[in-house]
Amino acid sequence: MNVYASVALSGDGYMDDRSPRRLILSTPADWREVMRLRAWADAILVGAETVRRDDPSLTVRDEALRRERLAANRPADPAKVTLSRSLRLAPASNFFTAGSGARIVFTDNAAASPLETAAEIVRIPDLSAARILTELEKRGFERLLVEGGPRTLGLFFAEGLVDTLRMAVNPAVRVGDPHAPRFEPPFDPARFPQQRRRLEGMEVTTYTLHPDRTEEDLHYLRQAIALSRRCTPCATSYRVGAVIVTRSGDRFTGYTHETSPTHHAEQEAILKATAAGADLHGASIYSSMEPCSTRSSEPESCSELILRHGFSRTVFALYEPSCFVCCEGAVRLRKGGVEVRVYPQLAGEVRAINGHLGLHE
Ligand SMILES: NC(=O)c1ccc[n+]([C@@H]2O[C@H](COP(=O)([O-])OP(=O)(O)OC[C@H]3O[C@@H](n4cnc5c(N)ncnc54)[C@H](OP(=O)(O)O)[C@@H]3O)[C@@H](O)[C@H]2O)c1
Repeated sequence: MNVYASVALSGDGYMDDRSPRRLILSTPADWREVMRLRAWADAILVGAETVRRDDPSLTVRDEALRRERLAANRPADPAKVTLSRSLRLAPASNFFTAGSGARIVFTDNAAASPLETAAEIVRIPDLSAARILTELEKRGFERLLVEGGPRTLGLFFAEGLVDTLRMAVNPAVRVGDPHAPRFEPPFDPARFPQQRRRLEGMEVTTYTLHPDRTEEDLHYLRQAIALSRRCTPCATSYRVGAVIVTRSGDRFTGYTHETSPTHHAEQEAILKATAAGADLHGASIYSSMEPCSTRSSEPESCSELILRHGFSRTVFALYEPSCFVCCEGAVRLRKGGVEVRVYPQLAGEVRAINGHLGLHE
């Protein structure tokens, strides 16, 4: 999932004041850029307090951009996503009624809610950004725009899940209220590539927190998928391939059952790397399928192995289907600070390779 955060700020760093009116911070040119970001997104996420206070419609309000999306076989509006513990949200608000996008509410609240008819309510055990992102990816979303407010942004930054931050500051607006919502980049700005420019009276800074590595990811992921074909089909396991690339560029590979009938692909590759004395801290592992989170035949799951050896990235094509167990690999890895990237465009091939388990391309 590509996660883009976008915020508008007053000259003194506030996202809003405390008056009942919505504080307008964007100039028309800034607003047009935000519309383009919305048109880029598969889903837009705001916290429940923003839904209550601002009543945003979160739609693409530009006919040309809507037509572009439709021409690309995408819905005219992105899906709208919010998170709420209380479920205290009005079904008549714009979030639930404006535009044509799907509506999703993430909650850890088990109580029945009148929102059930207005949105998909996704009940999850914890409202972490890692779980929200994973659930959205499993529903086919690949680009998420997080628009605020500060608590929701804080959740995504705290878990290291924002790839790009766009910050648009309007120096002509001052709020000067220490109790109003504020935002400051929760990272050292000097450490990340950034682009600064002026846009019709606003100062826009874009920070790249995680550079795009699609080309390299697809290259190694294709190698992992090719390796998975070497595993003999068997009714009790998936055919998976894995490639490790260390920080110094060494490569180690593995596939399911390569040296033992209980070994998974990631485990095989890690065993070869450790036997060679390789330093796996900061390494990347490419696996055709989501690394497992529970094992009965081995002491550690592949996710535990990846975390214990200090890998910094995990890349895979297909979320583990529910043929055997409910896999939590991606959530566990993200919670452990590992960057997880999923490339669903290669998932069909992985399903076809696992046709012996009834999976289809
Ligand atoms: N300038 C901008 O770019 C911009 C953009 C968006 C918003 N805003 C402003 O931001 C303000 C609202 O921001 P906010 O920070 O107070 O609220 P928020 O981030 O919009 O929403 C927070 C709400 O999300 C739900 N939530 C559940 N679990 C959470 C978790 N783990 N972390 C965070 N939230 C969780 C809770 O809803 P429940 O209370 O329902 O349980 C919580 O009250 C508004 O004044 C709005 O105008 C400004």
